[in-house]
Amino acid sequence: MAARTNPTRILSGIQPSGPLHLGNYFGVIRPAVALQTEGEAFYFVADLHALTTVRSPLDVRRWSQGVALDLLAAGLEPAHAVLFRQSDVPEVTELAWILSTVTPLGLLERAHAYKDKVARGLSASHGLFAYPVLMAADILLYDADLVPVGRDQTQHVEITRDIAAKLNEAYGSVFKLPKTSVLDDVAVVPGTDGQKMSKSYGNTIELGLAGGALRKRVMEIVTDSASVADPKNPSGSAIVALYRLVASGGEVRQMEEEFRAGGVGYSEFKRRLFEALEAYFVPFHSRREALAREPAAINRLLKAGAERARAVAIRTMARVRQAVGID
Ligand code: TRP
Repeated sequence: MAARTNPTRILSGIQPSGPLHLGNYFGVIRPAVALQTEGEAFYFVADLHALTTVRSPLDVRRWSQGVALDLLAAGLEPAHAVLFRQSDVPEVTELAWILSTVTPLGLLERAHAYKDKVARGLSASHGLFAYPVLMAADILLYDADLVPVGRDQTQHVEITRDIAAKLNEAYGSVFKLPKTSVLDDVAVVPGTDGQKMSKSYGNTIELGLAGGALRKRVMEIVTDSASVADPKNPSGSAIVALYRLVASGGEVRQMEEEFRAGGVGYSEFKRRLFEALEAYFVPFHSRREALAREPAAINRLLKAGAERARAVAIRTMARVRQAVGID
């Protein structure tokens, strides 16, 4: 096979703003891990972004380590993908500053994520407002071609393209524009209330749950008032949507048929979902537990990843510094 001179660079970040949940797993982690062999993958723990919402240093440390463990337990291979902590590459904040000097305020004022967070009562800090600029720096620092993100982050990648274009307009072509690789084929994962699973809706099923705690959470999934005997609609059901992520095609078809036929109650369907979830995550949990026993090894791995990432970052910054006149 001919050597490819320019492998596609794939980049994504995951914010350690809490323990991850099934929505993060099926929406971003699993597809990102699947992409790791498609090019040169850079995946990082976006701890600087988490600082916009997490105020406890203990939580920042704990959840950052947690995201690294989740990625590794999900099958990220450090031989294929560079795994690092965002804050271990300080060039990113320097680039964010330079980008901020060409970023129109209006662009940031239109960001849905910012507006949503402020509407939910988060105080409108400069960091929260400038969040997309730091994200643009993440993406442009590594000359990423492809940025796999969930639907809620696509606007941020669009903003990155706009900022890159602004900088190119001012200084000549410094950056190539990244492709918004939306993980379109990824189903929206419903939470226990049927809305999209999201930490801010309080409807998550955390990745770490197992046994009784997982069963309890699954039993809390909201259903309509259909009785055991009643026929039920599988297409709007969060139970079926979640089951689809972890059960075989045959099992899903059987559940759908039994929904339509009636005669089986929601609690039985939830029991089946619980068992399928638990079985699906057995290998993940055992890998994660083994990794968690080696925190020093995980730290070494993150530092080694940061070194590889930093080598790229330093080259990009030399180019940028020269372009703007601070070389
Ligand atoms: N904002 C992303 C999220 O919350 C995380 C993130 C930070 C990111 N920097 C990134 C994703 C760069 C992709 C590329 O999910």
